[in-house]
Amino acid sequence: MMLKNKVAIVTGAGRGIGRAIAEQFADQGCHIAALARSPEEIEETIALVEARGCRGVAIPCDVADAESVRKAVALAIETLGPIDILVNNAGVACFKPFMELSLADWESTMAVNLTGTFLCTQAVLPGMIARGAGKIINISSVSGLKPIAEQSAYCAAKHGVNGLTKTLALELQAHGIGVHAICPGGVVTRLANEAMPDRDKTDWMLPEDVAHTALFLATQSERATTDIIHIRRFESSPL
Ligand SMILES: NC(=O)c1ccc[n+]([C@@H]2O[C@H](COP(=O)([O-])OP(=O)(O)OC[C@H]3O[C@@H](n4cnc5c(N)ncnc54)[C@H](OP(=O)(O)O)[C@@H]3O)[C@@H](O)[C@H]2O)c1
Repeated sequence: MMLKNKVAIVTGAGRGIGRAIAEQFADQGCHIAALARSPEEIEETIALVEARGCRGVAIPCDVADAESVRKAVALAIETLGPIDILVNNAGVACFKPFMELSLADWESTMAVNLTGTFLCTQAVLPGMIARGAGKIINISSVSGLKPIAEQSAYCAAKHGVNGLTKTLALELQAHGIGVHAICPGGVVTRLANEAMPDRDKTDWMLPEDVAHTALFLATQSERATTDIIHIRRFESSPL
């Protein structure tokens, strides 16, 4: 087991990519704190974690709210112990032509995807810095690597996640902490179904494909690191 008795916080772990990451990490012996706003969904995820013989805790949390994040991380540490891995996966998508975006659309996209990553990372870092070890894995998007029409707020937020990732990779290397981003193309999840209802998704990736990449980053040799991974459906084009 590659993550035996490690502890991970996975945000947005109630469904989709976050749940798949929680399951694959638990397959490797990792205890999981599952954070999201919907209690029933994270409780289901934790049942899947416990069925694999690992410990878990479902913690309702809005990653865009500093106090909610502070309390959630404190409860995760109290329940499971020091955090080895943080997966910043919680995200929302609002795809519209730029002039149709409201300020509320813009602000909620930034708040969850970018500020949520900032808040959760700041909340776990004191413990990681004190121990001189840790991994932070940010679930970004191909929209963080290239422009996509009608995704301006989401592209801006995910480009921000990639900028934050690379800056922290540099800033935290002296503390033994790895910071990474995964930039997936289309993955069949509720987010994709709601944001792109008319797209044919027959050959799109599944959440477990992204989870497998997160597992690679979580278990990569300590001599090496990987900053940003673009993972795409097999039939698409490299960037
Ligand atoms: N699906 C794709 O095609 C695709 C491609 C590239 C990147 N991504 C990224 O992958 C990540 C996961 O998305 P997904 O596709 O798996 O979507 P999903 O199935 O809709 O899951 C999103 C998760 O994030 C949680 N979440 C949303 N807002 C939150 C908030 N304010 N606080 C805490 N949790 C919150 C949701 O739970 P609650 O609503 O209950 O809070 C849910 O558990 C996102 O960062 C997304 O941008 C997705």
